[in-house]
Amino acid sequence: MIFGLQGKTLADFATLVMERATQTIIILFLIAHFGAAQNATKTGAEEFPVGVILDLGTLVGKVTGTSIQMALEDFYAVHRSYNTRIALHIRDSRGNNIQAASAALDLLDNHNVQVIIGPQKSSQASFVLDLGNTTQVPIISFTATSPSLYSGGLPYFVRATLNDSAQVNSIASLIRAYGWRQVVPVYEDTDYGRGIIPYLVDALQIIDVRVPYRSVITPSARSGQITQELYKLMTMQTRVFIVHMSSDLASKLFIKAKEVGMMKKGFVWIMTDGITNLIDSLNPSVVEAMNGALGIKFYVPKSEELDSFIMRWNRKIQLDSPNDPSLKPSIFGLWGYDTIWAVAQAVEKIGFNNGTLFQKPAAPRTSTSLDTLQTSAYGSELLNNILQNKFSGLSGYFDLSDRQLQVSTFQIINVVGKGWREIGFWTVENGISRKLNHGKFMTRYAQSVSDLNNAIWPGKSTEIPRGWEIPVSGKKLQVGVHRSMYEQFMTNEKDPITGTTKASGFSVDIFEEAVKRLPYALPYEYIAFDNNEDRGRAGYNDFVYQVYLKVMRA
Ligand SMILES: *[C@@H]1O[C@H](CO)[C@@H](O)[C@H](O)[C@H]1NC(C)=O
Ligand SMILES: *[C@@H]1O[C@H](CO)[C@@H](O)[C@H](O)[C@H]1NC(C)=O
Ligand SMILES: *[C@@H]1O[C@H](CO)[C@@H](O)[C@H](O)[C@H]1NC(C)=O
Repeated sequence: MIFGLQGKTLADFATLVMERATQTIIILFLIAHFGAAQNATKTGAEEFPVGVILDLGTLVGKVTGTSIQMALEDFYAVHRSYNTRIALHIRDSRGNNIQAASAALDLLDNHNVQVIIGPQKSSQASFVLDLGNTTQVPIISFTATSPSLYSGGLPYFVRATLNDSAQVNSIASLIRAYGWRQVVPVYEDTDYGRGIIPYLVDALQIIDVRVPYRSVITPSARSGQITQELYKLMTMQTRVFIVHMSSDLASKLFIKAKEVGMMKKGFVWIMTDGITNLIDSLNPSVVEAMNGALGIKFYVPKSEELDSFIMRWNRKIQLDSPNDPSLKPSIFGLWGYDTIWAVAQAVEKIGFNNGTLFQKPAAPRTSTSLDTLQTSAYGSELLNNILQNKFSGLSGYFDLSDRQLQVSTFQIINVVGKGWREIGFWTVENGISRKLNHGKFMTRYAQSVSDLNNAIWPGKSTEIPRGWEIPVSGKKLQVGVHRSMYEQFMTNEKDPITGTTKASGFSVDIFEEAVKRLPYALPYEYIAFDNNEDRGRAGYNDFVYQVYLKVMRA
């Protein structure tokens, strides 16, 4: 025997080799098959490009960035058999309008995205919305709330949030319930800040509440400028302020307001939901400064899914943003999450199968021209599916059929200690109420304070502030003037119509210029001390002596 193998014949050996080989092949095949099966949900699926534009450095950007990633994982964990997968292309617009616009162009041009989620700010939206309209790519923003972004002529714009005009009625109801007669809006000088004002003023006019002044603050205001504006507000009669600005600016404002003594008894601060929705993520020192303020907050119904999401989210955010231990998902995170589910569902529905994403233009596109922007092949079908797909999401019932979330319920809260307490609710149907009552027999617009839980006001006061004070400016500074021998320096005359004293001259100019530069309003009036007609030194000394004697004129 030439090939002796444990007494087996060559034929036996050959059979053995064959068997082993077959086994190996079977095993290899099984491994490959198992691997493929495991990945089947990924490798078999068609990738569908979706763009995301957020200001990733901001509170909202961090919170929603994490939510969006989780939504994607969760959605495909539940829908393993789906034939499509959305592939997110996330861009950071860094708070910049041009950055947002160029990100949108890049996403459309170089990544063929068929949906853009974002942009974050209302001011970033207009160009992106026009691009969406031209290319028929749905633009879904869950943060751009300014009602100035009118969606009527922009069929591809979907708001997965409410526009800010939705909450003005809740604010007006609140003001009416407490019986305040005049309010001052304090808002940031941006599209977002300004957008709400006409609606707010209208709603207040209906209930006969006056807006004697509007306080506009630029987002880049330094703390000195904020202080100056606050001093101005302090000299006025109104003590009710409605704050509508980004949470960043609001944080600075409230810290300063506390510093200058405007978080004391007698003051009323009402925050719109842009701030209140994020209150759980704000710095504790800011919440401390806000104590006593009221806020309007989007109401999220409790659910087991939400509890479980929050637990997992808290773990993930620690990895994503380890330097911000206080971040909480907030309503924006939930809207971001639900938006991804809505989009992913719509993508599966349209039966996308590796088709052409954009209809090719007749002429080749040059890099600088927007004329040849292509039209999305799937945009319009996607849009319809997104609008039709209503479901119960983490944020509540998610219904975009009006291309905007349906107005639901606002919670009215009072900032107390390190957190906040609920003092009531506001719904379109029932106005203000202490409890959320889904019954149909509630009195309509039962708007009185007794429908709310007691609030603890600034200065830990439990007394409802009356909303106005006789301000410091009730008394005017009396400025004595005396005709000088040199009229260029100082002279005065009585206004024949109003009877008031008008002063002029170099000294008067200097005085008036100095007053303008004070960090607060200083009302003053000129009082003529010309009893003695002596314009020389003796007359002047006599005049100064009157000041020493504290002589007042009525
Ligand atoms: C399965 O997918 C993972 C990544 O998603 C990849 O690393 C792995 O090679 C894939 N396996 C097979 C068998 O395709
Ligand atoms: C804003 O929302 C209200 C309802 O909440 C709606 O009636 C109005 O048309 C919306 N405005 C814009 C500009 O979308
Ligand atoms: C949006 O596109 C439609 C047609 O596609 C057009 O009629 C409409 O004027 C556009 N809207 C704006 C604001 O450009």
